[in-house]
Amino acid sequence: MPGKFITFEGGEGVGKSTQAKLLAERLSTSSVKTYLTREPGGDVIGEEIRNLLKKSEEIDPVCEVMMIFAARRDHFVKIISPKLEQNYFVICDRFYDSSLIYQGLLKRVSIEDIMRLKQMAIGTFEPDFTIILDASFDTSHRRITERNLIPDEYDLMNRKKYDLIRSGFQKMAEIFSFRSVLINTEKSENIVSEKIWKTFQNL
Ligand code: TYD
Repeated sequence: MPGKFITFEGGEGVGKSTQAKLLAERLSTSSVKTYLTREPGGDVIGEEIRNLLKKSEEIDPVCEVMMIFAARRDHFVKIISPKLEQNYFVICDRFYDSSLIYQGLLKRVSIEDIMRLKQMAIGTFEPDFTIILDASFDTSHRRITERNLIPDEYDLMNRKKYDLIRSGFQKMAEIFSFRSVLINTEKSENIVSEKIWKTFQNL
């Protein structure tokens, strides 16, 4: 596939959605064909599954991961692959790394099972580059509160769970260092966005 697939990852309230949007805007103004999308979501089935997941109070972790990979398969076939074929830079707010952390590390679904689902859904496909955003519990908690939306299960997680997810993503940045970079987002939106842009230009 000739385009590039760039993913944003990290815990709740670290600024992924904002920074993914800023990078997409910056690439577009540099005349790069850009497509911004998110997971779970991206197309009709994925967005429906996202709504279902947000609505469901107590969902079995295996059921949850299967729903997420069903959404991912649809997203991959209908949006990601065709856009890459058309030479787009596809920027995705979360991808399968989130499943490894949330369903694997946090909810204890085995990594082997997750990787089997990954193989079924997207084969050997991998992101070309992953930007993992990192912030302290206090910063992210403040941002979520300021957002003023109705928080979901993951938004409301306590410090212990947040720190488990945070350390999982930090470790992931080390393990996947060939395709990822860890960026601290404690500073202002503009400073972080500039840092991401510089990293990106160095690629
Ligand atoms: P998020 O991008 O944080 O959206 P919002 O701004 O609406 O809170 O992500 C939605 C949630 O989906 C997030 O809490 C993490 C979860 N998620 C998983 O548990 N596994 C996955 O594979 C993905 C992609 C997301």
